[in-house]
Amino acid sequence: MSLHTAKQDYKTTKLQREQLHGHKAYLLWFTGLSGSGKSTLANLVEIALHQQGISTYILDGDNVRQGINKDLSFAPQDRSENIRRIAEISNLMLDAGVVTLAAFVSPYIKDREAVKQIVGQDNFIEIYVNTSLAECERRDVKGLYKKARTGEIKNMTGISAPYQAPVNPDIDLITDGQPIEDGVKKILELINKKLKPST
Ligand code: ADX
Repeated sequence: MSLHTAKQDYKTTKLQREQLHGHKAYLLWFTGLSGSGKSTLANLVEIALHQQGISTYILDGDNVRQGINKDLSFAPQDRSENIRRIAEISNLMLDAGVVTLAAFVSPYIKDREAVKQIVGQDNFIEIYVNTSLAECERRDVKGLYKKARTGEIKNMTGISAPYQAPVNPDIDLITDGQPIEDGVKKILELINKKLKPST
C-alpha cells in the first residue's frame, strides 16, 4: 500500500554523510540459531570498530522484538515481517552512513535475500554463525530449548521450526570448539578491507 506519497529529495547525500563519518556504511548481517553467539559476536565486533573510530549501531532480535516489532510472533509470516522491517530500518541506518550490525535468527533464505535486495547487494555482508544445534541446546542460555522440547514453546528454530543455512555466506563461522576471538578477527579483517573512506 502506498497512499499518494512521493519520494522527497534532500540535498545532503549518503556519500556526504559517509565522508563526514570517514568511512563507508555496511550492513553486517549475523544469522544463526538462537544461542549460536550472534549477539556476542556483534557486540565484540562493535566494540573493536568503535575503538577504531567507526560509527556503528546494533539491531538485535531480542531487543527489537520488545519495541517496534513487539506485535510479531514466531510464525513464518511474522518472522518475514520482522526481517522486512529490520531491513528497512537497516537501510535508513546505511543512508545515515552508519555501519550496522544486525543479529537475527532470520531462518529463511528468502527473507535474507529480501534484505539484500532492500539494502543493495554491495552493502550486505552475510555472516553465518554456524554453531550446531547440539551446542546451542547444550548452552541453552535462555532455557528456550528445554521449553521447546517439552512443547511449552512452539515454532522454536531448530526444534519445531526450520533453519535454512546460508548457501554462500561472506563468512561461515564454525564456532564449536573455537575461541570467539577467532571469529571476531575474521569479521574485522573483512570489514576493515571494505571500510576505506568514500572518495
Ligand atoms: S527471527 O526468526 O524472527 O529472525 P529474532 O532474531 O527476531 O527471530 O528473535 C530470536 C530470539 O527470540 C531468540 O534469540 C530467542 O531469544 C527468542 N525466541 C523466542 N521464541 C523463539 C522461537 N520460537 N524461535 C526462535 N527464537 C525464539
